[in-house]
Amino acid sequence: MLRKNTTPGKLIIVEGIDGSGKSTQIDLLYKWLQAQGRSVYFSEWNSSQLVKSTTKRAKKNKTFTPTTFSLLQATDFADRWENRILPLLKAGVIVLADRYTFTAFGRDVARGVDRVWVRNLYSFAMQPDIALFFRVPLDVAVKRITSARASLKYYEAGMDLKLSESRIESFHLFQERILNEYDQMVDEFGLTVIDGTLTVQAQQRLMREIVRKELEGWEGLPIPDAPPKTLLKYGIYDEKGGANV
Ligand SMILES: Nc1ncnc2c1ncn2[C@@H]1O[C@H](COP(=O)(O)OP(=O)(O)O)[C@@H](O)[C@H]1O
Ligand SMILES: [Mg+2]
Repeated sequence: MLRKNTTPGKLIIVEGIDGSGKSTQIDLLYKWLQAQGRSVYFSEWNSSQLVKSTTKRAKKNKTFTPTTFSLLQATDFADRWENRILPLLKAGVIVLADRYTFTAFGRDVARGVDRVWVRNLYSFAMQPDIALFFRVPLDVAVKRITSARASLKYYEAGMDLKLSESRIESFHLFQERILNEYDQMVDEFGLTVIDGTLTVQAQQRLMREIVRKELEGWEGLPIPDAPPKTLLKYGIYDEKGGANV
């Protein structure tokens, strides 16, 4: 259980295994909301500067353990949560997140981390107003990922789990575990399932309908002519460039 969002802002997040189409959909939603003159902020998993060099080093040296990987990503999330996401929600902004706590609940548990422990680790976070789970069969996701990219990275493929010598095979087995965790989280956290095998346009239509309903009768923070001084002072600006708060 995550605590309720008691801020005037709206938190919308996307989840799903690699290649499920999350980034494609959240990017389209971001542009749609912006075009409506909404104050919207985008935040991406594992994007904080705070732990970047450590993460890079540990990935390079392959020195992460499931626990240290989990803790470092939780630190990354906490940094974004406390410095960006929460203050902006308090200001009445729509915050979009590409991956949220459920990524940790899925991936870390797939790596062998305790389910309850990792949920407690993120207990400072809030339940999103909309949590979309893009569900695709494994083979569809694997095909999309491998056709879009030359190679799979070590941790991305779950090679640290020693499930298989082959990266593709390991990726498959790792993502399968994650998918099982996501399926269990649908009821636990009330995730809204979107069929990720639909066309980009069809999924976007469904997504916009869900968001439109959530925003009905909600004012939020209008985009001011200039970013409020307090937000600039704390270095809060849009990660995608442009001061949209
Ligand atoms: N509905 C879709 N049908 C077919 N291909 C898609 C669809 N959505 C996304 N893709 C493609 O699949 C790949 C992964 O999409 P992406 O949005 O990056 O997924 P994720 O962020 O979940 O890893 C990209 O090459 C993207 O163009
Ligand atoms: Mg993505």
